[in-house]
Amino acid sequence: MSVILGIDIGGSGIKGAPVDTATGKLTAERHRIPTPAGAQPDAVKDVVAQLVGHFGHEGPVGVTFPGIVQHGKTLSAANVDQGWIGLDADALFTEATGREVHLINDADAAGLAEARFGAGAGVRGVVMVLTFGTGIGSALIHDGVLVPNTELGHLWLKGDKHAETWASDRARERDDLNWKAWAKRASTYLQHLELIFSPDLFIIGGGISKKADKWQSQIQLTRSQLVPAALQNEAGIVGAAMNARRIAETQKS
Ligand code: BGC
Repeated sequence: MSVILGIDIGGSGIKGAPVDTATGKLTAERHRIPTPAGAQPDAVKDVVAQLVGHFGHEGPVGVTFPGIVQHGKTLSAANVDQGWIGLDADALFTEATGREVHLINDADAAGLAEARFGAGAGVRGVVMVLTFGTGIGSALIHDGVLVPNTELGHLWLKGDKHAETWASDRARERDDLNWKAWAKRASTYLQHLELIFSPDLFIIGGGISKKADKWQSQIQLTRSQLVPAALQNEAGIVGAAMNARRIAETQKS
């Protein structure tokens, strides 16, 4: 069961591809369908079913979601339709596709993939993956094992600053910050995380990971190393597939 279909629900597109979970490589080209306006659960479910049909792939399916996912239920919706709150999304998607579907938080998926196959491959200890986009997503991984739903984008910083609202990539655009000014905010946030978690390595993902030359040298940390993500827009798909494989195997045994 090493090739599993991974699907990444993003703000503008829902993308899928089969993933060889032993190597982290996609085994076919990604297919993308635009995210339905409003991203309501039923509309997103139909797109996920379409993607499953497109690949005609057997076996379990992994899907990312930009909010808390606990035991298959979506429990928060910071930047998506409120109809997701409290929904048994695993059951809804499983019924719609006729496959065993498992959801995972989007940053947790990216974290699993980066820690195993990307910028964190071979790193021992605590790896913290942060995705900077519309929001800030977080994943905390220790020796390859994920602690899910850390939601560190919702930390409050000194001066009543909500981290995600103040330091995300959306905040950079909204406040028309140059990279130096944004890196100063990001450093304040990262230094706080460093103090609390002492990560061996921070991996910075999201759209900004492609522009690391603009900000990386301006981030100031005391102890932790910091690198941009390596898998970029494949990380969600790969991590979703890894998670679905793990859950499917655990349930069988
Ligand atoms: C959500 C997280 C998500 C992040 C990135 C935040 O607003 O609360 O669950 O991982 O955005 O999409």
